[in-house]
Amino acid sequence: MANAKIVGLGHYIPEKVYDNAYMESIVDTNDEWITRRTGIKERRISGDSEYTSDMAAAAARMAIEDAGLAPEDIDLILLATVTPDYFTPSTACVVQGKIGAVNAMAFDYNAACSGFVVGLIIADQFIRSGAYKNVVVVAADVLSKATDYKDRATCVLFGDAAGAAVVSATEEKGIISFDMGAEGTSYDSITSLAFRKDAEEIEKRISGRRETIWMAGQAVMKFAVKAMADSSQRALDRAGLTYDDIALVVPHQANYRIVDSAVKRMGISKDKIILTIQKYGNTSASCIPVALHEAVASGRVKKGDKIILVGFGGGLTYAACVLEL
Ligand code: UT7
Repeated sequence: MANAKIVGLGHYIPEKVYDNAYMESIVDTNDEWITRRTGIKERRISGDSEYTSDMAAAAARMAIEDAGLAPEDIDLILLATVTPDYFTPSTACVVQGKIGAVNAMAFDYNAACSGFVVGLIIADQFIRSGAYKNVVVVAADVLSKATDYKDRATCVLFGDAAGAAVVSATEEKGIISFDMGAEGTSYDSITSLAFRKDAEEIEKRISGRRETIWMAGQAVMKFAVKAMADSSQRALDRAGLTYDDIALVVPHQANYRIVDSAVKRMGISKDKIILTIQKYGNTSASCIPVALHEAVASGRVKKGDKIILVGFGGGLTYAACVLEL
């Protein structure tokens, strides 16, 4: 049975910047509050006619090139997004067409900010079963297009980005273990409405735009700390490893305070964590692959290192994965 390993990484960050001074100019907030409560200094914003598929295609192309493969070598494209171009077709199919991955099946799935890790776990199943050899997992979102810029409690948090990995069949060690789960009773903790017209939900949105993201910040924070620490521990236990074996933990970047508390619960030192939130804010499922790509590109981690990727998000969902680079 083949192992599934990340053999290529890519990411895309749009150029436009909303810094904290800009946020101060549009809502009643300030740099001191945003920095102290979230750790965010800047977020990147997609162009008016730049969509999830454009950013996902750029990240996927880069990951395929990094893997030394051609688009025709890809068997499957798994795309995580909560801001698709269309309800149908899937954004994955749009990306398949854009990058010329003519031999690939392509579909979207939704595990919100846990999406990239969940995608790696799905890819692992297809590869271990022998069904596919090369799978692209891509996470992309234009959260700025689903942000209520009249709501200071959410608008300071979100940015846009895409991150991608090529996961291939190999004899080497790759994905070692995982843990994932959902807490659907808390489905209404983070919402963005599609067809539902519940008056109560719409009233929560200051702008009245039902597709904008609303969340119960405090409740999500509480869930996130426990979910990330406990899920990582279960994945480590399944791998028969401890944090001493781990070179880097790449957490979802929603709030540096969440990461800080999770690190304490994990009992690890801060130098085992990567933080990108100050530069990009929360970009949903792409936070993890963007941070991972930056860690690899800067030499912070290298081939043979064991790492943990761990995310949480709407659903509510969580997912952790131990892998060897
Ligand atoms: O990836 C999706 C998952 N999402 C998350 O993980 C987000 C998790 N939650 C959070 O990161 C935090 O809950 C927030 C950053 C959203 C909020 O931080 P908090 O420490 O939980 O603040 P809070 O909601 O308890 O609000 C404290 C105060 C309130 O004022 P009062 O009622 O104490 O007078 C808010 O109105 O801070 C106020 N506030 C702000 N003040 C200045 C809320 N947003 C802002 C703001 N600027 N942007």
